[in-house]
Amino acid sequence: MLLGASSLLLSITLCAGLAPKGPWDAFNYAPASKLVRPVSVRSTHGSVVRAQRLVKDASAKATFTGNSSYVVLDWGKEVGGILSLTINDATPASQFSLSFTESPQFINPDRSDDSCHSTAAGDGDGVQSFRAPLTKGLLTQTIGQQRGGFRFLTIVSNSADPLTISNISLAITFMPHWDDLRAYPGYFFAPDPGFHDVDFLTKLWYAGAYTVQTNTIDAHEARLQPCPAAGGWANDASGGPVEGPILVDGAQRDRVFSVDYTIDSYFASDYTAPTTVPTDALLFRLIPEQKKRDAGGAA
Ligand SMILES: *[C@@H]1O[C@H](CO)[C@@H](O)[C@H](O)[C@H]1NC(C)=O
Ligand SMILES: *[C@@H]1O[C@H](CO)[C@@H](O)[C@H](O)[C@H]1NC(C)=O
Repeated sequence: MLLGASSLLLSITLCAGLAPKGPWDAFNYAPASKLVRPVSVRSTHGSVVRAQRLVKDASAKATFTGNSSYVVLDWGKEVGGILSLTINDATPASQFSLSFTESPQFINPDRSDDSCHSTAAGDGDGVQSFRAPLTKGLLTQTIGQQRGGFRFLTIVSNSADPLTISNISLAITFMPHWDDLRAYPGYFFAPDPGFHDVDFLTKLWYAGAYTVQTNTIDAHEARLQPCPAAGGWANDASGGPVEGPILVDGAQRDRVFSVDYTIDSYFASDYTAPTTVPTDALLFRLIPEQKKRDAGGAA
């Protein structure tokens, strides 16, 4: 197993604290801030005036004119949390919706990729709609409305009347117990000159570490089951018999319990629980613990 092999190569700091700085930091996917913004406009359809401004600075505005006009914003990587935007101008008839997807394959102004409503096409989640009349000012999703994992956000006008917005941001909710998402205690760096991508193993390790982070959520932000009958999703259910952060199976969809227990238990080793895994067991902590055990010390 790849991760098993990587752990053999892992360089670790034996004392508690942060990993030393080094070339490996360039591979750390975790954002420097828990408040992130979209990084580029992937596409626009219909009429979205000055759409590029939505990724330039927080106060720059874009205007949708025309029913079904939409913009697709790319956040550059998987993110998850509570979305906010400012409604600067709207008529009494302006209205809009949001749709979300992890993969560009599911970009669609009318649908989000599956987290709650499973369909053969994989796009059963619908949209989050904000109906007329809108209230000007800052609009923020509730905890339940948050998407656990997405990279692409589509904002679509559902009215012929204009709508002007700005200040799109996301308050990341995963790893609720860490202020600095990049502050890994361990690090990994294993250039392989014999492979076409010399950094392949290093990238794998950091992708795995970030995946564990995105799957580590507050115990009260799990996916509601059964899903809301009216459509959409709800991510404010209880995820466990435990308090504190839990490690779930997937940031976007499997915010429930660790079905792939054999995989998760590699990360979570000896901190087993029947349906959820307390995140004391995260990879970042496990590796030094494992090392201690391998060396004959008590973990
Ligand atoms: C912009 O969004 C942030 C949240 O990211 C919020 O604190 C701020 O008040 C907003 N600004 C305006 C002008 O609405
Ligand atoms: C907007 O377009 C959609 C799809 O064509 C249509 O179903 C809807 O009635 C239109 N809404 C308005 C307010 O014109």
